Amino acid sequence: MLAIIGGSGLSTLPNLQIRGRKVVRTPYGEPSCPLTFGTIRDRPVVFLARHGYGHTIPPHAVNYRANLWALQAEKVRTVVSVASVGGIRRDLTPGTIVIPDQIIDYTHGRAFTFYESDATPVTHVDFTHPYCERTRALCIEAARRAGEPVVVGGVYAATQGPRLETAAEINRLERDGADMVGMTGMPEAALARELGLSYAALAVVANYAAGRADSAEGIRMEEVAKVLRGAMARVRNILEHVVEAYDG
Ligand code: HPA
Repeated sequence: MLAIIGGSGLSTLPNLQIRGRKVVRTPYGEPSCPLTFGTIRDRPVVFLARHGYGHTIPPHAVNYRANLWALQAEKVRTVVSVASVGGIRRDLTPGTIVIPDQIIDYTHGRAFTFYESDATPVTHVDFTHPYCERTRALCIEAARRAGEPVVVGGVYAATQGPRLETAAEINRLERDGADMVGMTGMPEAALARELGLSYAALAVVANYAAGRADSAEGIRMEEVAKVLRGAMARVRNILEHVVEAYDG
């Protein structure tokens, strides 16, 4: 089964025919919200709103472990995550949709692993390629069929939030090789890998990163919300094609 994790601007999926909701309890506590089961174009899909349906859970307080555990417990094998980002690379202008291929993790203090107890053998998952290539290809092909342009590849920097970055921090992220910056990509991707879930992301550029272009003097959240509203219609179009093409 396929799951979609929706981020800022995507707390619901209007094109989803809802069949039911389920509160899933996990050893790590409760997920951000009940899982929504339904169909898109008659294909089954599970939806989870990362920040809760009321968008009340900030990035550092999301229970990423419970979210992924719950999805796996409900027989999900593939996860497509939607997350908003600030654009660092010049061509990643507001409204652009990116399918990243790498991650740099700057988060701290989050519950970031399922392998924390001394009751299990020490385990190091391979994370050379943090996103599942097959799932990325599914998203790229879905975007092509949907007629929505996407940027293929890019380095996602995951910051702690909830504050936005300083201009100097963005300069540093760029020197590190980051192309975009968001607050929720980690530990979500790593936890998915630990559970053996196939995971890819659609990153939606909501704004120029701090200090860049229109954000030289600051980032206006009303602008960000407006860009996301526009872009999410295109994201939904891509997701419909992802669900339709998924055969795993
Ligand atoms: N920084 C971090 N996370 C974000 C941004 C940003 O500029 N825009 C949307 N999510």
